[in-house]
Amino acid sequence: MFSSLIAFVTGGASGLGRASALNLLKNGARVVIADLPHQEELAKSLAQDFGEKVLFQPVDVTSEEMVNASLDECVNKFDGVPSVVVNCAGRADAQKTVGRKGFLFVSWETSFISL
Ligand SMILES: NC(=O)c1ccc[n+]([C@@H]2O[C@H](COP(=O)([O-])OP(=O)(O)OC[C@H]3O[C@@H](n4cnc5c(N)ncnc54)[C@H](O)[C@@H]3O)[C@@H](O)[C@H]2O)c1
Repeated sequence: MFSSLIAFVTGGASGLGRASALNLLKNGARVVIADLPHQEELAKSLAQDFGEKVLFQPVDVTSEEMVNASLDECVNKFDGVPSVVVNCAGRADAQKTVGRKGFLFVSWETSFISL
């Protein structure tokens, strides 16, 4: 379905990003997994199943230089620029949102301060 598509998935080694990458790969896309260097092993497990369609790039998305370098690598490997970007890089502390009596009130300010 997506055989001509190149996707760039930040945070693609884990969680929502990984699920997005997997879905794109299953549908034929070529996918750059842009994630922190220590996530390489996780990303490699996708490469085992999808081989040359996966390119892992060790990237901290807060570094413009690293993101640009990974886009250059994408062009080198896939001979094209990504037409899809899925941005899932990030982190957040887990927080209880539902209790025995239903949803708990969590204000944006409370969440923000707890970070
Ligand atoms: N999972 C949820 O239900 C949910 C709900 C709302 C929002 N979110 C947000 O979505 C994002 C992803 O959530 P997730 O559950 O997939 O988390 P996750 O921890 O499973 O995956 C996040 C990925 O981002 C990578 N990452 C973190 N900082 C990075 C950086 N600076 N550069 C490159 N990669 C980086 C991590 O290495 C990891 O692989 C988070 O910001 C989270 O707060 C998640």
